Amino acid sequence: MIDDLSTGSLDNIRHLMGRKGFHYAIETITNETVMDRLVSECDVIFHLAAAVGVELIIKRPVHVIENNIIGTEYVLRIANRYRKKVLVASTSEIYGKNNRVPFKEDDDRVLGATTKSRWSYSCSKAIDEFLALAYWHEKKLPVVNFRLFNTIGPRQTGRYGMVVPRFVRQALTGAPLTVYGDGMQSRCFSAVRDVVEAIIALSENAGAVGDVFNIGSSQEISILELARRVVALTGSSSEIEFIPYNEAYEKGFEDMRRRVPDTTKIRELVGWTPHTPLEDILREIIEEIDKEVKCTLPACAL
Ligand SMILES: NC(=O)c1ccc[n+]([C@@H]2O[C@H](COP(=O)([O-])OP(=O)(O)OC[C@H]3O[C@@H](n4cnc5c(N)ncnc54)[C@H](O)[C@@H]3O)[C@@H](O)[C@H]2O)c1
Repeated sequence: MIDDLSTGSLDNIRHLMGRKGFHYAIETITNETVMDRLVSECDVIFHLAAAVGVELIIKRPVHVIENNIIGTEYVLRIANRYRKKVLVASTSEIYGKNNRVPFKEDDDRVLGATTKSRWSYSCSKAIDEFLALAYWHEKKLPVVNFRLFNTIGPRQTGRYGMVVPRFVRQALTGAPLTVYGDGMQSRCFSAVRDVVEAIIALSENAGAVGDVFNIGSSQEISILELARRVVALTGSSSEIEFIPYNEAYEKGFEDMRRRVPDTTKIRELVGWTPHTPLEDILREIIEEIDKEVKCTLPACAL
């Protein structure tokens, strides 16, 4: 594993440290010397390193664009040197403002103007996908692009605006749950462990090579309903507060109203469907953040 800890945390892999066969490097994927050695030693590359999160995209657009495009260039170039299979993480943001859900992998992308920086993340990931497919077409490097829809689970950070850890923390500390816009925008959340099964299944199937796959749940929920559910599950007395998009992000911010994946393609190829219900994932996340919140109370330090 290689991670520069720009948004990641060592705490997330502490339970793996010392386990036989688990090695990690704290480095950027653009360190060619380190990457050359790691790639030469591995069987397959799961390329997930990226700058992620709408808040980060708005605040640090240069970093997001450069990191996502240049990082993927390095990964693919070095993978090609050793002819190693690469699975490249992409995103539902690829579909942009297209409102014809569910999204199929070959659907058109509908994007806003370049003056709206949030679309730069979608474009950086699209370039990653194009480049991976180009390596397949031109050099026959085995690649697979997979597009994640909202993926959640314990240990996800809320620092960069990710909605579920943010709501849970707000509910557990009695702060208002901040819903951006009217809350009627909807998302489909899936458990990270289900998603990992899907990615591994794709890596093991020769039929996935040179192709693109959606990975996500079709259980749609509005963000307002999500906030209500978090309040109910935590037993919190927090209020729900609406924040206009231009206050939460930037003036003229454009959101995607709905994001629902069509997962027929991955189901037909590898038999994958998500199976963890949203309530179960939320309970797990609540339990984990609850421990953390209690640990920040003065009594915990005694
Ligand atoms: N979680 C989701 O809902 C979701 C949705 C769509 C796409 N994705 C994609 O999945 C991948 C993983 O996202 P995540 O949600 O786990 O976010 P994350 O921030 O937890 O993971 C990204 C990791 O990449 C690391 N990183 C960033 N730039 C790096 C670099 N140059 N060198 C080394 N490490 C670097 C970060 O430190 C972080 O640990 C990303 O490619 C993201 O675009 C995630």
